Amino acid sequence: MKNNGLPDDAFDGRPVIGICNTFSEFTPCNAHFRGLIEHIKAGVLEAGGLPLEFPVFSCGESNLRPTAMLFRNLASMDVEEAIRGNPMDGVVLMAGCDKTTPSLVMGAASCDLPSIVISGGPMLNGRFQGRTIGSGTDVWKFSEDVRAGVMSAQDFADAESAMSRSPGSCMTMGTASTMASMVEALGIALPGNAAYPAVDAHRNRLARMTGRRIVEMVNEDLWLSAILKKEAFINAIRVNGAIGGSTNAVVHLLAIAGRIGTPLTLDDWDRFGRDVPTIVDLMPSGRFLMEDFCYAGGIPAVMKEMADLLDLDALTVTGKPVRENIADARNHNTEVIRPRDKALTPQGGMAVLRGNLAPDGAILKPSAASPELMKHRGRAVVFEDIDHYKAVIDDPALDIDAHCIMVLKNCGPKGYPGMAEVGNMALPQKLLQQGVRDMIRISDARMSGTAYGTVVLHVAPEAAVGGPLALVRNGDMIELDVEARRLHLDVSDAELAERRAAWVAPVPAMKGGYQSLYVERVIQADRGADLDFLIGCRGHAIPRESH
Ligand code: FES
Repeated sequence: MKNNGLPDDAFDGRPVIGICNTFSEFTPCNAHFRGLIEHIKAGVLEAGGLPLEFPVFSCGESNLRPTAMLFRNLASMDVEEAIRGNPMDGVVLMAGCDKTTPSLVMGAASCDLPSIVISGGPMLNGRFQGRTIGSGTDVWKFSEDVRAGVMSAQDFADAESAMSRSPGSCMTMGTASTMASMVEALGIALPGNAAYPAVDAHRNRLARMTGRRIVEMVNEDLWLSAILKKEAFINAIRVNGAIGGSTNAVVHLLAIAGRIGTPLTLDDWDRFGRDVPTIVDLMPSGRFLMEDFCYAGGIPAVMKEMADLLDLDALTVTGKPVRENIADARNHNTEVIRPRDKALTPQGGMAVLRGNLAPDGAILKPSAASPELMKHRGRAVVFEDIDHYKAVIDDPALDIDAHCIMVLKNCGPKGYPGMAEVGNMALPQKLLQQGVRDMIRISDARMSGTAYGTVVLHVAPEAAVGGPLALVRNGDMIELDVEARRLHLDVSDAELAERRAAWVAPVPAMKGGYQSLYVERVIQADRGADLDFLIGCRGHAIPRESH
């Protein structure tokens, strides 16, 4: 390693800090990491450590096909083996775009060593034709407007440019901002991590402090497992409810918990998140964006606002409990971070639905749904897979009205494969033109954290393994009752048994390679959609020398 220009004293036993970098120009949300990492390195050096950067697979949401989620587990393997195989005492995890955060934390959790996350930070607010617009959320709206004929293609392209006007990740409370908030709420990133914009000097200062802190964590023997206890996950679930966070956090936190060995279930999401009011007024559930959230006080101000709902003794990477981290936090804008009695939604969090259509569970985000659809009985309009959906959705002859329930099959972990973000399927053009903007949609897919609507997701077991979703037919009646947490297919058991006997499993699209391994070994969404053989912590000890 002397060819890096390292002096002799670099090898005197000082803490070696790996800096796991998800930079990639294919991941535009993390494309500024080359600059950010210099501030982390400076902090490590100042604290007496030796910083060594290493690249890992970068799971960029916007470019990877068939879906970034297919590669979350692959990236986590890369992270795990790179951490364990290389001689490092602690690791800084540089994450930004949606899947980069869980993949890094999952990999580090399977090693369990001093670890700290720094997020890349969100983009600045989008501004278009005199109004504020948010990534993802307004893309969905505008694309429906284009399809409904009320927005031109050129205006759409201009809005895109106005939306992505600085480095950073999506600046709505989409999955990237949610996961940046989750690592802060879990206690594995410094306070303030979620909200400082990517281009704000505060972000660089935080990177520097992160570099300093990881060296101290090595000296203090503060491992990831000491922080990622059950209370940390409960705090994160509650904060997710308060911020109106992404449904994707459900599968990611379940997977992280599985890696570190902390018991966490799908039902914990409902149990601990159910009565948490959504107090952060950010898109897609509300009005504002991450830049506003930063100025309002970010996650520390939210946690202070809901302190009585949190375990304030939970340990964090600062070496202190949550209580001390948030002691001086203040809410500077009660429009953005509302007082509890003026909550955006009294019951935020995730509704975990069960019934004969989802025996192992499904989720719905009440804060993004239409109140008038939360209890509804409707006729199923079934799409056998995403190709079928795309082929018929705008067919004027499609037998569908606003009261129908759209059902999409074979988009789960094994079916798509990778459980793509297609659950918030766009409505038929003919209904959009009539002014319809929301309908109940049910699938085994996920949806973008920037999306909204009365969308039932993550149905387990998925259609591709023969879950009841596979048996739904056009014209079946389905009942959704969010308050009762019920999702029911109104078809007799005898009829379902007959359909099951006739069901034929879909043939996987690809033979061999990682995709085959994934399809063979991925577990269902209700347990985090990890690969079965990756669950658990294998430690970071290296049994043998290389020569
Ligand atoms: Fe990367 Fe949204 S596409 S954060």
